[in-house]
Amino acid sequence: MEKFNYAMIGCGMMGQEHLRNLNLIDDANVVAVFEPDDNMAQIALALTNGAKRTASIEELIKQENIDALVISSPNFLHAEQLEQVFQETKLPVLVEKPVVTQLEQVEIIRRLAERHPAPVWVGMEYRYMPAIAFLIEKVNDGILGHPKMLTIREHRYPFLEKVADWNRFNRYTGGTLVEKCCHYFDLMRLLVNANPVRVMSSAGIDVNHQNERYKGEQPDILDNAYVIVEFDSGQRAMLELCMFAEGSRFQEEICVIGPEAKAEAFVPGPNRFHNPDLGTAPIPKVIISPRDKTQPQELEIPVDSKLLAAGDHNGSTFFQHQRFLNAIKGKGKVEVTVDDGLKAIVMGLAAQHSAQIGKTAVITNNGFSYTIS
Ligand SMILES: NC(=O)c1ccc[n+]([C@@H]2O[C@H](COP(=O)([O-])OP(=O)(O)OC[C@H]3O[C@@H](n4cnc5c(N)ncnc54)[C@H](O)[C@@H]3O)[C@@H](O)[C@H]2O)c1
Repeated sequence: MEKFNYAMIGCGMMGQEHLRNLNLIDDANVVAVFEPDDNMAQIALALTNGAKRTASIEELIKQENIDALVISSPNFLHAEQLEQVFQETKLPVLVEKPVVTQLEQVEIIRRLAERHPAPVWVGMEYRYMPAIAFLIEKVNDGILGHPKMLTIREHRYPFLEKVADWNRFNRYTGGTLVEKCCHYFDLMRLLVNANPVRVMSSAGIDVNHQNERYKGEQPDILDNAYVIVEFDSGQRAMLELCMFAEGSRFQEEICVIGPEAKAEAFVPGPNRFHNPDLGTAPIPKVIISPRDKTQPQELEIPVDSKLLAAGDHNGSTFFQHQRFLNAIKGKGKVEVTVDDGLKAIVMGLAAQHSAQIGKTAVITNNGFSYTIS
């Protein structure tokens, strides 16, 4: 069987999730990694079949046997590393979200990506969680009628510790509503199939990180938020984020309502954080509730235990890699484009800004910018 050789830029928690999932794909093989942290590099290399550790990105991309790159370095490095990859290679690339962290980077990356001759895919794994994928399919089938309202609720554990604590500060992450919530803004765009026009948000740092200090500095990342988004189609969506709610049965709850019915998806958090004293981990499910007084239909959407063990994202990283590989082979299209990734970031940046100054942001430039005053 022909093998497709991958090289990894950044092999911390998420990079290792990519490695474990690529190991489940028969024709994928990781041949090189660039990971500056010795401890992370050792763990990552042990997950490969003899991959080479390089001392720099330059050395990595000069390897002759590489067919694709995966970028899973800290958020603030994505834009500059993508620029380098676009300028110095013609390789397919999967870049973790958020594709950029600053508004000024949006146009630069957009232009460079447009000219890149190979597939560029942004890691929006949540689209591929089986229960969420099923919900999207049902909404697209039209069983709700034209969706009018969408609520996404994430109730979860606080941000985990990261290498060099980069995720404790907005300047490295883009802010919580960019870093974490770009997934949800991406899902909003996908589920309503329309363009956002206004974003308003209220958010705070009310429980977590209060007593943490890094070189004397207190984290400035939000731990709870409400964000309301209006779309040019008249549809509206709301995000509710709480990062001090790890006791919740389900981590993500998504509810879409149209004139004919309501559809909900429920996804539990990572298996490794499930408390066995509370019984077995909940199975993801979708509930469809028609308005015509027939019974709501409740469907369990289980995920293969091998996929659950390979990561924290309900099997989605595996399904995303299958599709990315199809795009590399020319057998499928890029489903999460750089434009998709950037538009979700613009919504996140607008939400961060709205919460900061208490005003509504207006999305401009076809989704690639915003104004607020
Ligand atoms: N899609 C998802 O659901 C999801 C989930 C978690 C993380 N992520 C994303 O994955 C990325 C990595 O997050 P993480 O949780 O693995 O963080 P992490 O801190 O565990 O890993 C980041 C790794 O990058 C390494 N690194 C530091 N400087 C580097 C450089 N110049 N070049 C390459 N690597 C460098 C660090 O040593 C570390 O090992 C982030 O962008 C994050 O937003 C995505």
